[in-house]
Amino acid sequence: MLDGLRRLEYRGYDSAGVAVITADGLAVERKAGRLANLEAELVGQEGFVGTAGMGHTRWATHGAPVDRNSHPHRDVSGKVAVVHNGIIENFHALRVELEADGVEFSSDTDTETVAHLVAREYDGDLPETVRKVCRRLEGAFTLVVTHADEPDMIVAARRSSPLVVGIGDKEMFLASDVSAFIEHTRDAVELGQDQVVTIARSGYEVTDFYGEPAPTNHFQVNWDLSAAEKGGHDYFMLKEIEEQPEALANTLRGHFVDGRIVLDEQRMADQDLRDVDKVFVIACGTAYHSGLVAKYAIEHWTRLPVEVELASEFRYRDPVLDRDTLVVAISQSGETADTLEAVRHAREQKARVLAICNTNGAQIPRESDAVLYTHAGPEVGVAATKTFLAQIAANFLVGLALAQARGTKYSDEVAREFHELEQMPAAVSQVLQTVDSVRALGRQLADSKAVLFLGRHVGYPVALEGALKLKELAYMHAEGFAAGELKHGPIALIEQDLPVVVVMPSPKGRAVLHAKLLSNISEIQARGARTIVIAEEGDETVRPFADELIEVPQVPTLLQPLVSTVPLQVLAAEIARARGYDVDKPRNLAKSVTVE
Ligand code: AGP
Repeated sequence: MLDGLRRLEYRGYDSAGVAVITADGLAVERKAGRLANLEAELVGQEGFVGTAGMGHTRWATHGAPVDRNSHPHRDVSGKVAVVHNGIIENFHALRVELEADGVEFSSDTDTETVAHLVAREYDGDLPETVRKVCRRLEGAFTLVVTHADEPDMIVAARRSSPLVVGIGDKEMFLASDVSAFIEHTRDAVELGQDQVVTIARSGYEVTDFYGEPAPTNHFQVNWDLSAAEKGGHDYFMLKEIEEQPEALANTLRGHFVDGRIVLDEQRMADQDLRDVDKVFVIACGTAYHSGLVAKYAIEHWTRLPVEVELASEFRYRDPVLDRDTLVVAISQSGETADTLEAVRHAREQKARVLAICNTNGAQIPRESDAVLYTHAGPEVGVAATKTFLAQIAANFLVGLALAQARGTKYSDEVAREFHELEQMPAAVSQVLQTVDSVRALGRQLADSKAVLFLGRHVGYPVALEGALKLKELAYMHAEGFAAGELKHGPIALIEQDLPVVVVMPSPKGRAVLHAKLLSNISEIQARGARTIVIAEEGDETVRPFADELIEVPQVPTLLQPLVSTVPLQVLAAEIARARGYDVDKPRNLAKSVTVE
């Protein structure tokens, strides 16, 4: 099990734990921090003798990464142990119900509710008990459940979260992905949505949540271990680009409850949000670009002035802040020194700080008044991809929460905007199905000297992000411009065959912007540029202006960055690969810049 956990540690490493079914009941050990901390705890412990058990490495979503929040979670009797990946949306209501039954909780996690539910419903039939509990859960979950009274059995379930079965030689495995058991067997079964699997010495059985036999996908794993950790891709970043629909869905999940937007931790009253008279968004790099997108949405929805500032500049320009200023600090790592110092400066000026972060328990959320976590999962590639889209979604949630608190949008309008956001994972999935042409284009551009990126409105931050991806992955000169700025200097850069990527708005959104961008394209075409246009599918007016046309689904104006960024991520990665560079670990860079 420890070997298996080591193979999975890239998926999350806030804490780790194991449970073994022994002759004397369940032996459980769990420890915050890296897997090595758990292994140190287990040294010398004689009690972990058994032939069945489970382990877990945690990427914290609910509850800080401390021992008591580490998995496995148990019921009061200690007979039931559960490990869980995902987010159980209705865990608050379940917890209230259980506490009303007298159950005492020992953690802040959503997972612990499952352990108590299983214990309460258990009637000697563990598979049926797990199915009954699953029928009460909302959200995304992979669950693995053991019960000391059924030592030869382990039951697992999945909804919108991965789970595969490994069929060994007189041994069975369950894991989030095949890399955990690939050295023991390549004979695997992938479970489908809303399925429960029971594994025992005799083999395995798969049903739906109502006990009916369910179809499964039996396959042979033909990846090596390294590829398995990357989901079959050559690089983590390529896998993370593919994970963007799930990252978006998980970030949105659970934030619209009873017709209202709810943040994760809002240590600010709605009145505080109503008192806000100015918003600063502070961040670095890609996070800064997500902040630029946020500006358009927050100003449009709340009529509050929004300044977006590079964190490294923010505190040195002596910004005007007071207790009615809301500072939104965006950081996937939550440890970026520039952003952390900017947060501290804002707090010294009595401003309130709301953190948007992908790492539970990181320093920036800890020092903020409110937190909204993105649930993109660990991002191993140094170049941010899925966390960028997740940040944009989180920024929109903050904008809607402000509009809701301040009454600048009616509840039905907030609901409508949220439900439009909920369509975005599917839109991003659609883009991911059509990027093969972008990969081919990337290979063609591998020897370019430079690439320029143009955009207007929310397309401008996308142009900046596309340029940053190309710089950091392919070490190629790239620059993003507001298209209207071209004639104020940058057009001097245009020369024959220079690739210029243009991010087009929808003709149905701000039609004037669409028309102006077409005239910008004419200006650069007249000077020989090779125009690569990202446009809404069906927008036939752009065809004469595009040497290469990349079509994306039609989405609402403010949400376009969620679909138009994806081809630019793929383009940059493909150019880097064509140049022979390590896409996951670009030179000179680190995943978290903890120095100023
Ligand atoms: C983006 O691809 C880079 N990895 C970098 O610009 C990054 O966005 C920046 O360092 C901010 O990191 P953070 O989100 O962890 O604060």
